[in-house]
Amino acid sequence: MTDDDCVRILREWCPRHGLRFEGFRRVRSQVRKRIGRRLVELGLAAVERYLERLEADPAEQLQLESFCRISISRFYRDRLVFDRLREAELPRLAREALESPQPKVRIWCAGCASGEEPYTIALLWSLELADRFPGCTLELSATDANAALIDRAHRGEYPAGSIRDLPAPFRSAFEIVGRTAILPVQFRSLASFSVADVRTVFPDRELDGIFCRNLPFTYFELEAQRRFLEAVDRILRPGGLLAIGAKEVLPGDHRFRESAPGTGLFVRSSE
Ligand SMILES: C[S@@+](CC[C@H](N)C(=O)[O-])C[C@H]1O[C@@H](n2cnc3c(N)ncnc32)[C@H](O)[C@@H]1O
Repeated sequence: MTDDDCVRILREWCPRHGLRFEGFRRVRSQVRKRIGRRLVELGLAAVERYLERLEADPAEQLQLESFCRISISRFYRDRLVFDRLREAELPRLAREALESPQPKVRIWCAGCASGEEPYTIALLWSLELADRFPGCTLELSATDANAALIDRAHRGEYPAGSIRDLPAPFRSAFEIVGRTAILPVQFRSLASFSVADVRTVFPDRELDGIFCRNLPFTYFELEAQRRFLEAVDRILRPGGLLAIGAKEVLPGDHRFRESAPGTGLFVRSSE
């Protein structure tokens, strides 16, 4: 399967799945490899035959959609973003939570891959913030459409490279066995994971923070981005934190102001 073959398939099928072809520019090779393996499995030599199969077979269309879920992630991905979270935004949410009768910081990670992002938050919380904000708890939920990734999140076992960006005090929380970094259960138990599609399933409670980095605002077409943002508006409290990818852009008019330039961290305004 050549890159041109992959471009041909994505150009034709991304819009039919509500996805943006342009979002795949830098990460296409992951999709190309998956489709390439699928062609071998199906015994198809030419991309034309696969395009015919797609037209005729709705199950194959779903299969292709799953190939388009880019699963790149790692702990403390984007240092500036997590530095800002540690220094400013998570402490602010904890301070504000302490003003309520049942102090809780409620965070949802949408498109959480194998848990790298929610577990980074869990590590920051338990190793740095919990002691500074006694009485305040973290309620952390995380969802992804890919069940295999959610299984990996439950196991909490990662290739050693996944934790390379974590500052040393957080890295030392892991048990290293050969080339595998294992997150101990005391941290794993802080996050609850489930399989869900962010286009249709949202938490049914008010939240203080929503992380959706490197998913809707890169891969979804504009209309789906708008619908996602409307859902965020409904469930994120005024003053709540929205984390999108540092290079992503929110569509159209919205009620968010950036917490610090270039971080993708936004605060929902109160009106
Ligand atoms: C590029 S990763 C981003 C992971 C993490 N947020 C980060 O920034 O490091 C995108 C994740 O979104 C998931 N995903 C893709 N489409 C999805 C959908 N419609 N609903 C839920 N998760 C989805 C993929 O399986 C993948 O794990």
